[in-house]
Amino acid sequence: MTDDVLVVHGGTPLEGRIRVRGAKNLVSKAMVAALLGDTPSRLFDVPRIRDVEVVRGLLGLHGVKVSDGDEEGELVFDPSNVESASTDQINVHAGSSRIPILFCGPLLHRLGHAFIPDLGGCHIGPRPIDFHLQALREFGATVDKTPEGLHLSAPNGLHGTKFALPYPSVGATEQVLLTAVMAEGVTELRNAAVEPEIIDLICVLQKMGAIIKVHTDRVIEIQGVKKLHGYTHRPIPDRIEAASWAAAALATRGHVEVLGAQQADMMTFLNIFRSVGGEYEVTDLRPPRGGSPGQEGGIRFWHPGGELNAVALETDVHPGFMTDWQQPLVVALTQARGLSIVHETVYEQRLGYTEALNTMGANIQVYRDCLGGTPCRFGRRNFKHSAVIAGPSKLHAADLVIPDLRAGFSHLIAALAAEGTSRVYGVDLINRGYEDFEAKLADLGAHVERP
Ligand code: EPZ
Repeated sequence: MTDDVLVVHGGTPLEGRIRVRGAKNLVSKAMVAALLGDTPSRLFDVPRIRDVEVVRGLLGLHGVKVSDGDEEGELVFDPSNVESASTDQINVHAGSSRIPILFCGPLLHRLGHAFIPDLGGCHIGPRPIDFHLQALREFGATVDKTPEGLHLSAPNGLHGTKFALPYPSVGATEQVLLTAVMAEGVTELRNAAVEPEIIDLICVLQKMGAIIKVHTDRVIEIQGVKKLHGYTHRPIPDRIEAASWAAAALATRGHVEVLGAQQADMMTFLNIFRSVGGEYEVTDLRPPRGGSPGQEGGIRFWHPGGELNAVALETDVHPGFMTDWQQPLVVALTQARGLSIVHETVYEQRLGYTEALNTMGANIQVYRDCLGGTPCRFGRRNFKHSAVIAGPSKLHAADLVIPDLRAGFSHLIAALAAEGTSRVYGVDLINRGYEDFEAKLADLGAHVERP
């Protein structure tokens, strides 16, 4: 643990400019999609983060040759020799990420069988995979759960199906897309997630030759095809990372330009950011999604001085306020005058990190009640999933242990905003989703060091 610690001398506003690259939650899925093609795929703007390494490793084990392209951040995937890997080899990646569950459909199509190791990912609740397995069974897969992982096969091939998700799960929607594109016949998915990362995955699959219609009311229809080819794709930028740096600018009374950030995918965040009293300016004057290189802009976020305002917000599926934006923003809300209310409706246990903020001087109470009107599955199940933040509070330094990726970034922001020297343990977890975050902190003038 001791070498995985960052010493943060807080109290200095973050000032400067950093860049975000392709969205972690699209890039890793686009990498899996490359398995479905019969010719090479090229993906640009891939961040150097742990999840990408895990997927790269798993693709390599299954015979996909992954190499660096000519451009910085470009990866090339050659799937011409897809082959089985041993469970022992695959198990090396057990517990490291949740992406392996998305290999089910592509491996079933390419090999007729699949082995998926025990999943990892952030500890933000039980994170079941029941929707995924139910969907795969609907397609005709057999799923055998063993202590070492999941063994899947499709003795009679995979067939299109009609399926309604109990909740618009991002991962389960991706599972259905990656399976349906080459299943025989038509698949109709109801109550699908429609996050921008999903739409971008649909763009990737469409480039590969898939036929996918996105209807109104969360209905997606996929016409299976026999063959897909490789793609060339530049992913949407990481809107979670962009919002995290925006929240850091606000909490430290700083000024950060996030190059690459796109307004269209961050509208809900921008509305809340403005309501809290933060200022922003969109500096990306290119047409949405694309445009010529060399004109790069983004969004400039800053604290205009004076006091911040308390707000009420509820996390929700797209186009609602993302659950992953919640933790970084709550740190800024500790600096707002009055009572802010946060109702978390996506994950049942995503407020545990507030205890650490309280040890730093914040005044946050968590409740089992639903403090908001968004339909929510957790109130009646007795989970502490609402928070009331009373501010402003002067934050002071503390020793912190990072529990998960987004909460970890919020701890980091709190340490940067607090007066004094904090020690943040477990910071390597932040590398799972934030590329070069230590270099970016240095670019923004933060006083941080490895002991
Ligand atoms: C994705 O997770 C993201 N991860 C998460 O980001 C993000 O928080 C989440 O979507 C919501 O936007 C990746 O894309 C890799 P879900 P995912 O399936 O797909 C329940 C980050 O920090 N559910 O939409 O795993 C589930 O428990 C991460 O970047 C079931 O009950 O999320 C949760 O309450 C953290 N059964 C809700 O649905 C299932 O089979 C939404 O989960 C699947 C999900």
